[in-house]
Amino acid sequence: MGMKVKTQSKKVNKAWLNQHVNDPYVQLAHKDGYRARAAYKLKELDEALGLIRPGQSVLDLGSAPGAWSQYLRRRLSPQGAAVGELCGHIFAIDQQSMEPIEGVHFIQGDFREPQVLSALEQALTQRGVAALDLVLSDMAPNLSGVGATDAARIADLVELALDFSSQHLKPQGALVVKLFHGGAYDALVARFRQTFTQVKAIKPKASREKSSETFLCGRGLKRVSQKCHAPNDAATLMASSLIPGVRA
Ligand SMILES: C[S@@+](CC[C@H](N)C(=O)[O-])C[C@H]1O[C@@H](n2cnc3c(N)ncnc32)[C@H](O)[C@@H]1O
Repeated sequence: MGMKVKTQSKKVNKAWLNQHVNDPYVQLAHKDGYRARAAYKLKELDEALGLIRPGQSVLDLGSAPGAWSQYLRRRLSPQGAAVGELCGHIFAIDQQSMEPIEGVHFIQGDFREPQVLSALEQALTQRGVAALDLVLSDMAPNLSGVGATDAARIADLVELALDFSSQHLKPQGALVVKLFHGGAYDALVARFRQTFTQVKAIKPKASREKSSETFLCGRGLKRVSQKCHAPNDAATLMASSLIPGVRA
C-alpha cells in the first residue's frame, strides 16, 4: 500500500515538473528575471484594470517569493527598471522570508497577528503614507485538504484584507484579492459589493486552467462621499469598457 502511494506521488511529481518546465510563463519569468510566474497574473490584472501607476503607495500581501513586488517595483520606476529611482511606496508582508527587493519595505509576519498590523501601520506613518492607492492580496493558506476548513481559512484572509482596506485605502483606491470558487465565494463577492462602488472578478490567462482561483477587484470605497473627489481615470475606464475575460 505504502509503495503504491509512493509510486503514484513520484509520477505526479514528474508530471508536475514536466508541466512546470514547459510552462510558457515559467520560461518567460526566467527570461524577465521574475522569481515566479505569478508576476504575469498581476501584469494581466494591471493591464485589464489599469491598477498601477507611478506615484502610488501599494501594499502586497502574501508577497513571497516576491514576483508581484518585483513587478510593482518596475511599474513604479520611471524607466520600468528593477533598480534605481522609484516613484511611490511599496510595502510587502509575508509569513515566510523574502529575498530583499530594492525599494520594497518588507515585513515578515502573519497578517492575522495584531503586532504585524501595528508594524505595517508604523512603517506607513514613518514614510508619510496616510492612505494606500492599492492593496493586493495573493495570500493563500497552507491547505489541509479538508474542503470546509480550507474554504474558511481562505475566506478569513480575504475578510482581513477587506477590513484593512476599508480603513487604509484612499477613497478611489482599489483592493485585489485572490479567492477560490466554491466555499464562501458568493458571500465574499457580496461583501465586496457592500464595500466598493465597482467590483470585477477576473481569471488571468496566466492562472492555471485547472485551478479554481479567481481574482476579485473592488474599487472606490462606498462609505466616502464620491462628490468630494475627482473621478479616477482608471476607475472610469474599468466601469465603462468591456474587458475580455472579466466577469461582473
Ligand atoms: C501564492 S504565494 C504568493 C506569491 C507572490 N504573490 C509572488 O508573486 O511571489 C502565497 C503567499 O501567501 C503567504 N501567506 C499565506 N497566509 C499568510 C498570512 N496569514 N500572513 C502572511 N502571509 C501569508 C504564504 O506564505 C505565501 O508566500
